[in-house]
Amino acid sequence: MFDLVIRGGTIATAAEVFSADIGVTGGRIVALSERLPLGSGGREIDAGGKIVLPGGIDAHVHIDQAQAPGLASAGAMMADGFRSGTISAAFGGTTTTISFAVQHRGTSLRAAVADYHARATGHAVVDYSFHLVVSDPTPAVLGQELPALIAAGCRSLKVYMTYDAMRISDRQMLDVMQVARDQRAVVLVHAENHEAIAWLAERLEARGDTRPQHHAQSRPLPVEREATHRALTLAELVGEVPIVIVHVSGAEPLDEIIRARARGLRVWAETCPQYLFLTAGDLDAPDMEGAKVMCSPPPRDTASQRAIWRGIEDGAFDLINSDHAPYRFDAQGKLIAGPNPPFRKVSNGIPGLETRLPLLFSEGVMTGRIPLTRFVAMTATNNARLYGLAGKGRVSVGADADLVLWNPDRTTTVTNALLHHNVDYTPYEGMVLRGWPETVLSRGEVIVADGALHASPGRGRFLEQGLSAAWGAEAGQWT
Ligand code: URP
Ligand code: ZN
Ligand code: ZN
Repeated sequence: MFDLVIRGGTIATAAEVFSADIGVTGGRIVALSERLPLGSGGREIDAGGKIVLPGGIDAHVHIDQAQAPGLASAGAMMADGFRSGTISAAFGGTTTTISFAVQHRGTSLRAAVADYHARATGHAVVDYSFHLVVSDPTPAVLGQELPALIAAGCRSLKVYMTYDAMRISDRQMLDVMQVARDQRAVVLVHAENHEAIAWLAERLEARGDTRPQHHAQSRPLPVEREATHRALTLAELVGEVPIVIVHVSGAEPLDEIIRARARGLRVWAETCPQYLFLTAGDLDAPDMEGAKVMCSPPPRDTASQRAIWRGIEDGAFDLINSDHAPYRFDAQGKLIAGPNPPFRKVSNGIPGLETRLPLLFSEGVMTGRIPLTRFVAMTATNNARLYGLAGKGRVSVGADADLVLWNPDRTTTVTNALLHHNVDYTPYEGMVLRGWPETVLSRGEVIVADGALHASPGRGRFLEQGLSAAWGAEAGQWT
């Protein structure tokens, strides 16, 4: 009767937790019932004692991304391509990724997207989509390329307010937001004040403060708060356009977002595990070890960690994504500028695609801090709604059977050897976590079980984004 039946699990969606059997046919969920007839599945999986969640969606990952020429760390290679990146995702319970198709200045955005399609095709093991990074909004990009690419299913655009080779001006942001508004797309913003960072960094360097911990001092919270406020103000001037402030690291930018919602803006907030589990103190490690956890915005202090947890608990955050930006700790990655570079020449970013869900499940769900429903909402369902991925992020009839069986009784010590990314370290080495994603299905196929991969590279499909639910939502959040 069914291709597959998953029997006896505790299912959680963004709305409720219940016990049911799941019938899967043709890669989709076709039945959810207290009890499906015995023997009705061509294959049966016993989910007794397990928690069955929709596969995670990680909507902030940098995969196979070449650094822009002109960046301080130009030439550094992201360690994960679509093969290792999506295998790592699968082992961590993530069955959909949205990575970035990056336009470098002077090049065509359309060509960049074609290039990322070519990089992913034949390699991805889970389904994927792309955000467009607009670093050169020429009249051709604004007038022709963006509308065509949005119509072709890349309905989310990221803009940077920092990084020499990536940032665009306020006026250019207005232009991009206007196109997004006209074409009903969503704009993601990396909000940090570039000029202030440059000024602070130069002063630090002039007095010889060039170690990794000084990276955090060059990008303090006010720099993020001001840029967040400015991005929101620009969105307000354009009107209507939904915007997502990504990788929010502390209370001050989050307060700006909350205030903007009160003014009626359509704004969504994303944070990342590094702002819950790391602090600026971790950058202050011997030798160059602190470089391993250098990312932007930087991890902050314990008060900021508490503020981020509070924002997750009280619903101020909508999304928790990894911002997986994987550099190896070697001369091709973090240390592209030499073994002991000043902080401005260290490649920015940390790995986290595989650890995102286990960290949050253990320290959020198993501690009772986050209800299971909210965990599902922030790590899967809200990404699907915001980025127009119909069929993903849900356990309901008609949805893709992207499912993860979590063992809540398993205790695991995180080591880099356990992970499947192509990075030679994890910032979370030695953490002891409760609960683990043991069995992972993508469109009804078991792709991870018993610690082994059962999927061929290339099975992952490109997902065209439909209209974001943000366009139908009232100002602020939909939940
Ligand atoms: O440090 C980070 N976050 N690197 C990745 C690029 C970005 O800004 O998201
Ligand atoms: Zn960013
Ligand atoms: Zn990022």
